Amino acid sequence: MDKKYYITTPIYYPSGSLHIGHCYCTVAADSIARYKRLRGYDVKFLTGTDEHGQKIEEKAKAAGVTPIEYVDNIVTGIKQLWKYLKITNDDFLRTTEERHEKIVQKIFTKLYEQGDIYKGEYEGKYCTPCESFWTETQLVDGKCPDCGREVKLVKEESYFFKLSKYQDKLEDLFTNNTYFVQPDARRKEMLNNFIKPGVQDLCVSRTSFKWGIPVDFDEGHVVYVWLDALSNYITFLGYDVDEQSDKFKKYWPCDLHLIGKDIIRFHTIYWPCFLWSLGVELPKQVFGHPWLLTGDDKMSKSKGNVIYADDLVDLFGVDAVRFYLLNAIPFANDGTITYDLVIDRVNSELANTLGNLVQRTISMGNKYFDGKVSNKKVSEDVDTDFINLINGLDKKVENCMEDYHISDALAEIFTVLRASNKYIDDTTPWILAKDEAKQDRLETVLYNLLESIRVCGSLLLPFLPDTSCEIHKQINNKKTDLSYLEDNSYELGQPSPLFQRIDKDKLDL
Ligand code: MSP
Repeated sequence: MDKKYYITTPIYYPSGSLHIGHCYCTVAADSIARYKRLRGYDVKFLTGTDEHGQKIEEKAKAAGVTPIEYVDNIVTGIKQLWKYLKITNDDFLRTTEERHEKIVQKIFTKLYEQGDIYKGEYEGKYCTPCESFWTETQLVDGKCPDCGREVKLVKEESYFFKLSKYQDKLEDLFTNNTYFVQPDARRKEMLNNFIKPGVQDLCVSRTSFKWGIPVDFDEGHVVYVWLDALSNYITFLGYDVDEQSDKFKKYWPCDLHLIGKDIIRFHTIYWPCFLWSLGVELPKQVFGHPWLLTGDDKMSKSKGNVIYADDLVDLFGVDAVRFYLLNAIPFANDGTITYDLVIDRVNSELANTLGNLVQRTISMGNKYFDGKVSNKKVSEDVDTDFINLINGLDKKVENCMEDYHISDALAEIFTVLRASNKYIDDTTPWILAKDEAKQDRLETVLYNLLESIRVCGSLLLPFLPDTSCEIHKQINNKKTDLSYLEDNSYELGQPSPLFQRIDKDKLDL
């Protein structure tokens, strides 16, 4: 069985601090990476920063510093943010690192030498925030069709990549491979809006600014930022144009590029053509996730509605923020975030459903059996469905995670947690406790509950890592099985609340 798994996030522009919307992708990728590790995969998980380009050059100039001084500072903040959110990336690639720049230069030269890159003159429109070229017909009301901002007229000597050469291959890929782009609606959108009308050669160097990787055989040209940026997915693995590292041979092709919906075109049209040209296999899948909005609006500094992850973590804790993010974007639709929505979710699901269940169960175990609980096997009908539910959970989570329905996987776990609370209501342990003859039944009930908490706690690890560890600590569990065990035993620790209920009125928001 193929047990390696390579997953990437986009590399972020360090043009300003990242907001909670940016964090969505990294937290989602982290939960997938953790999930695959839990399933025994040898995982490589990469994130990083995309540090070149006109936008960064302009920002640095406005701040009165050099571009590298400008990005160094922001990148330090981004690395801290990922630590804060408990992100388990194996490496962090900066496109200003030598290991990357050197290879991008070699890639550019190779493509030039084999005739896939040629010199010409570019005249057209450029959107600096998106670092993307547009033809007159692609503009919407004269503005960038992606972000709606002003575009600039650019006229300069440039190198072009022969995208048009790959027209047929692209049509074939988008028609016959329904796995490559997900969700499927995005595949159809790319095929109908960008590929069928005919792809045009792509400008891959710039001369009107300096902050980029120099084309080493033609002074004054720097590599267009998307060719530079996309290459990170292979340079990180030690790809070289002539000889491949063991790491590259082992982990490429990438299993998943997880990205936002706005950059699907670059990843599914440009990137495959660059790879074909290099003779490198395509990544197996590109998943373009929807966006996180504040209320109904796009987050933007000018609207003053930007939410930052570290502020939320300070208030609610890291797992509450991860939980909100992972639930916020259902598979195919944009999600929304506000402080009120986070509070409601923490209170109802984390504090009530999960927190109360764990605290009540451990408290009863301590009160009635001094914390020592084993299976007395005094079963009743109500147990059968409950145990079946626990035993079915592992497979259900696996099915959801197979096609990256993360919020559905969490919903399955919470269905079992809710059923566990209902099991307490149905079996009424506090009444059993009053009857000397029902002690073994009482212990069986608590045992079943602890098994449910143990299995749910284990399956929560990829999503809520701290909470999962805390649950296992409180129930003193060392077992890794993901199904109900007949002959486990518990020596419980002391319960302490996993999540505090948040009183909106006491927060100064
Ligand atoms: N540097 C490029 C990516 C190069 S990958 C080879 C870039 N950077 S970015 O910083 O502008 O965006 C990074 C990611 O953040 C994108 O996937 C984008 O979709 C995502 N998001 C930005 N705002 C977002 C939300 N509000 N919600 C969810 N994701 C969002 O593009």
